[in-house]
Amino acid sequence: IKRDSKFATLTQEHVKYFQGLLGSESAVLDGVSKDASEDIEPYNSDWMRKFRGHAQLVLRPGSTEEVSKILKYCNENMLAVVPQGGNTGLVGGSVPVFDEIVISMQKMNKIRSFDDVSGILVADAGVILEVADNYLAEKNHIFPLDLGAKGSCHVGGNVATNAGGLRLLRYGSLHGSVLGIEAVLPDGRIMNDLVTLRKNNTGYDLKQLFIGGEGTLGIVTAISIICPQRPQAVNVAYFGLESYDHAQKAFRAAKTQLGEILSAFEMMDGRTQKMLRDVTGRKMPLEGEHPFYCLIETSGSNTDHDSEKLQNFLEHVMEQEIVADGVMSENQTQFADIWSCREGITEILGHWGGVYKYDLSLPIGDLYALVDETRERLTQAGLLGDSESHPVVDVVGYGHMGDANLHLNIPTRGYNKDVEKALEPWVYEWVQQKNGSISAEHGLGVTKKPYIGYSRDDTMIGMMKQIKNLYDPNGIMNPYKYI
Ligand code: FAD
Ligand code: MLT
Ligand code: ZN
Repeated sequence: IKRDSKFATLTQEHVKYFQGLLGSESAVLDGVSKDASEDIEPYNSDWMRKFRGHAQLVLRPGSTEEVSKILKYCNENMLAVVPQGGNTGLVGGSVPVFDEIVISMQKMNKIRSFDDVSGILVADAGVILEVADNYLAEKNHIFPLDLGAKGSCHVGGNVATNAGGLRLLRYGSLHGSVLGIEAVLPDGRIMNDLVTLRKNNTGYDLKQLFIGGEGTLGIVTAISIICPQRPQAVNVAYFGLESYDHAQKAFRAAKTQLGEILSAFEMMDGRTQKMLRDVTGRKMPLEGEHPFYCLIETSGSNTDHDSEKLQNFLEHVMEQEIVADGVMSENQTQFADIWSCREGITEILGHWGGVYKYDLSLPIGDLYALVDETRERLTQAGLLGDSESHPVVDVVGYGHMGDANLHLNIPTRGYNKDVEKALEPWVYEWVQQKNGSISAEHGLGVTKKPYIGYSRDDTMIGMMKQIKNLYDPNGIMNPYKYI
């Protein structure tokens, strides 16, 4: 792709305007800020180190009014922008493609209010997810979203990507739990829909456009979200299984026997667990190796009741030979240790220099077949083999099995065009044939933009483009991405 010449390039006059508006500490220019050690490089490169932009300017507004003035000015001067939260996105959406101005939300980091009767939290977009959850823990509540990047990602970024995470099975999607949004449109108008109402059928539900909008329609400046009571009893179990079929049986049994307390059902194949062990040198919760592993979490209100239920479940699935081996957490340390076997996967997959990531929704019965077929395909193409001369390290699968969301990952010894050609669009065709989704929870960003047609028809893509043109006619919001 080429830089769109309709966008202006940054001038001294633009910079002067922004420094006048925000002060030089919040309008950071190409490495030279008030604090001379500050470098803008981290804003230009993504979590995977796969994408690199060339922004010369980073703006860090401290209020909704400042965001409004910034966007109005950018829109009038044809300056393209990229909204940025914690910069943990996995589709290249949070960094510039060329010289777009980065608008970082990190200074808008206040909790605005919390009502402990309704459980409704109102927070600035730049509040870090873990900070929000720790705040809620003190009030005996829980943020209805949890994911491995919680220490860095922003609640605004979570909403902008419509992140799914580890407990969607229990708490549902942000499309349901987010009750209100305050957002700034490209022309500077402030959409004040920061309501704290559970029910509100007064016209089109416009805030939904910003949930999963990936910063293409405006900037989310605050959210209101309904948060459940924090469960008193949380347990986690880790199982080794013989096959994917056994994992499906375990899922059915978990729904039958643990029903109302089940809060996560995650799947990791044996290859991811072996990699985790080899790369980190850590001890795994179970001895021996199994082709598949599942992680089951329960959350309820009575410790004895829940532990007993999980214990009975464990006995049942072992007796029925659904699972080969299993372990239950007995304290907080073991609880965290088991969860790290799942949450730690993302990080180690980058160990060899490159990783091709596919985040897919598929019919649950077909979920793992794609991983096997991909491995077969890359082996036949001579890209995967026993020796280190092959570019592909392995083909692995893990994910939110309870939501039928597979993460197909292909770690490689650096990024490689032949590997990419063997995978795309083949993976997307496979998903299309199963009526799946090519983007379950990570979004489209730059990586998935060319492939949206595998999951959406022309009529729907046309409607999306109409919406984009209506609210962002100059196209300044996060260009070159999404649609
Ligand atoms: P960023 O990466 O900064 O931005 C993401 C997108 O949102 C960009 O397009 C950006 O322009 C836009 N954006 C950001 N803030 C705003 C705003 N205030 N207004 C408008 N647009 C905005 N995702 C899942 O769904 N489930 C997981 O389990 C999961 N686990 C992860 C684990 C790890 C280790 C990592 C690194 C990532 C994981 N992700 C997961 C990816 C996920 O999308 C994010 O971590 C998170 O939702 C992004 O939030 P962020 O604040 O970092 O947003
Ligand atoms: C996860 O579920 O671990 C995240 O979505 C990140 C990833 O896909 O690696
Ligand atoms: Zn995920």
